[in-house]
Amino acid sequence: MNHSSKIGDEDRSAPMTGVEELPQAPPAAAFAQYPASWYPFCHVDELRTKPVSKRILGRDLVAFRTASGKLSVINARCSHLGANLGCGHVIGESLQCPFHNWKYGADGRCTHVPGATRIPDFARQDAYPAVERHGYVFFFNGPEALFPLPFFFDERAEDYTGGQLFSFDSDCPWYVTSAHACDIQHFEAVHDRRLLAKPVIDCPAPFAMRNRYHAELIGDTLLDRTLRLIAGPEVKITITTWGGTMALISGDFTRAHSRFLISSQPLENGNTLCVGIVFTRTHQNPIGRLLWDPAILFVRRIFTHGYLKDEARRLRQTCYNPAGLIAPDRPMIEYYRWLAGLSQGAAQYAPTQPPSR
Ligand code: FES
Ligand SMILES: [Fe+2]
Repeated sequence: MNHSSKIGDEDRSAPMTGVEELPQAPPAAAFAQYPASWYPFCHVDELRTKPVSKRILGRDLVAFRTASGKLSVINARCSHLGANLGCGHVIGESLQCPFHNWKYGADGRCTHVPGATRIPDFARQDAYPAVERHGYVFFFNGPEALFPLPFFFDERAEDYTGGQLFSFDSDCPWYVTSAHACDIQHFEAVHDRRLLAKPVIDCPAPFAMRNRYHAELIGDTLLDRTLRLIAGPEVKITITTWGGTMALISGDFTRAHSRFLISSQPLENGNTLCVGIVFTRTHQNPIGRLLWDPAILFVRRIFTHGYLKDEARRLRQTCYNPAGLIAPDRPMIEYYRWLAGLSQGAAQYAPTQPPSR
């Protein structure tokens, strides 16, 4: 799909299925196991005294900060005998392996092998683009970032403060959770948001798909009643998904605004770990920054986490069933086609295996 096109435009080149002339949803095999996108890794404070390693996207990665302040995310399994570099030490500009003291620079290249006259060619760790924002380390799953770490259109990341990270499990593949962004039916069925107009879905940039819709809050839960009272009865939602897995969601109510991101991280068992961060516009005065920002973030995090976790709990065991998609699901079919298109280029970023030499 051309990145400036709108979903719902006729796509006559697509294979048609049945009388409704729906575009064909891709097979599950078309989706990358671990899409090329940005993912949060850890809080920067965790790197103050030591490297941090974790298993993510089916591989062991380690983040560290060099003495000069360079941030690095590299493969954690040492190219020598596979020791986990997360148990090593940062020495100057290098990360030293805990086993035989090989040293690696921020770019993943081995810089020192004790007792050897030359550094072997294989002595090199895969390195991932890494950036720091809102107190977190983000890395891109690929040798080069295909797009900059995204933020909300027309808003500057530096004007916002991020809250404490939250997470929940979703027992379905990443592409099923991701496709909620264009699952029009579920906005009312699950979220009690009745649409007031047809959603506007487009691709505002390469690697980005956006859904904008205007809805009224019709739920009778305590949360919705509170929201209606405090924020107003209507909301304009924008969901922009980058790289298939990082969704930036803004909700503009009559009297309040919410901003948060959700990163869908594929797990090795086929399920998805959803990681979220809420944002608030940073107060300009010190009192506001000290008192109000943390309080607002705390409340938003509790509500957002609870809301999304409850959805994941209620929607257990959903699966990808392209044959079950019908005409009202067309935006979702288009979304799946977009995801598959992204994923075709991402297969090369499959995890590297631990060294077997
Ligand atoms: S396993 Fe890392 S230096 Fe030997
Ligand atoms: Fe949803």
